[in-house]
Amino acid sequence: MFRPSSLARAVPRARAFASTAAAQSAIRRVAVIGGGQMGSGIAQVAAAHKHDVTLVDVSQEALERGKGYMAKSLGRVAKKKFPEDAQAQSRFVEEVLGRVSLSTDLKAAAGSAGLVIEAAVENIKLKQELFAGLAAAAPEDAILASNTSSLPIARIAAPLSAERKRRMIGLHFFNPVPQMKLVEVVRTDEAEQQVVDDAVAFVKGIGKVPAVCKDTPGFIVNRLLLPYTMEAVRLLERDVASPRDIDTAMKLGAGYPMGPFELCDYVGLDTIKFIVDGWHKEGQGLAGDKLFAPSAKLDELVKKGHLGVKTGRGFYEY
Ligand code: CAA
Ligand code: NAD
Repeated sequence: MFRPSSLARAVPRARAFASTAAAQSAIRRVAVIGGGQMGSGIAQVAAAHKHDVTLVDVSQEALERGKGYMAKSLGRVAKKKFPEDAQAQSRFVEEVLGRVSLSTDLKAAAGSAGLVIEAAVENIKLKQELFAGLAAAAPEDAILASNTSSLPIARIAAPLSAERKRRMIGLHFFNPVPQMKLVEVVRTDEAEQQVVDDAVAFVKGIGKVPAVCKDTPGFIVNRLLLPYTMEAVRLLERDVASPRDIDTAMKLGAGYPMGPFELCDYVGLDTIKFIVDGWHKEGQGLAGDKLFAPSAKLDELVKKGHLGVKTGRGFYEY
């Protein structure tokens, strides 16, 4: 029987479990591919829980940007962890950053990793190519994981060998990673139970709460969140209300921490567009769904490079 109260208890229980789970997780070295908003957050949280992390991106400039995101976020965490002790705060930030190496060499980074988490842009071809490279370089027993928002894990893994497919899953983190407690652990039909168990132990070990789910479009959260955000965009296109009023309505009328337009800007309009276009064109069971049909408003903003908070402009200006 499902009891609503068991959900409310899940977070404190998982927190209590975190320290033992850290000891149980056999994974020590983690490679994170893509040092943007998500990859830098994943690298930061893994390093804060004593993992040795290599963060990989296409250029030194992108890596430095990712390091900047981590330093800023760690500063916020440190202030809460060591209130009124500036020295302890900077020691903590330095110590965590010290466990993150930066690299543009994907194969070298994957070569010694027990877990590889890919968080590059939401593009199937790019992800398939990345995983082909990772499969060639990572130790045989490494777990390969994608942080994709919307692409089927089995599709990303399609070009891989049967053995690699058994060790490939989705690990879907939420933005901002240091603050959001959930990680969806996405199991394909091919994934071994032990791999799912190890991934769950890793997630608990970094202080997060896992939700295991099947490999279907949008997993749990995005399957519910994207229809909601796209309905908001359609309201705007029909001129029902302004982004500000729609956001205010959902925050004050439904208790959401952010309104749908603030959320789209926060996630990145390019990512939102990749998700809905992908589902509309070829999403399993969602292809042709009117809800995910191209949105003129979204297309226009993305075309202009107004991708949200990360570029300083989206539905709002920052
Ligand atoms: N690093 C570290 N800590 C952070 C942080 C960051 N980047 N961002 C926020 N925080 C912490 C703050 O330090 C603060 O902590 P305390 O409460 O302990 O003091 C807390 O988060 C709240 O932050 P603020 O007071 O600055 O701001 P806020 O109250 O407006 O909260 C928010 C900010 C946490 C982002 C909140 O607005 C929120 O939860 N928004 C919804 C986020 C959401 O829905 N994310 C999921 C997006 S969908 C997705 O990720 C999946 C996908 O595939 C697209
Ligand atoms: P982002 O644009 O902030 O960062 C993407 C990073 O990937 C960039 O730094 C880019 O240089 C790098 N990159 C591109 N090609 C690469 C390659 N070949 N090798 C290594 N790095 C490469 O994007 P993001 O918001 O961090 O999203 C990353 C992934 O996480 C996407 O799959 C997205 O769908 C998913 N995701 C996003 C969110 C969100 O709220 N933004 C939440 C959960 C999951």
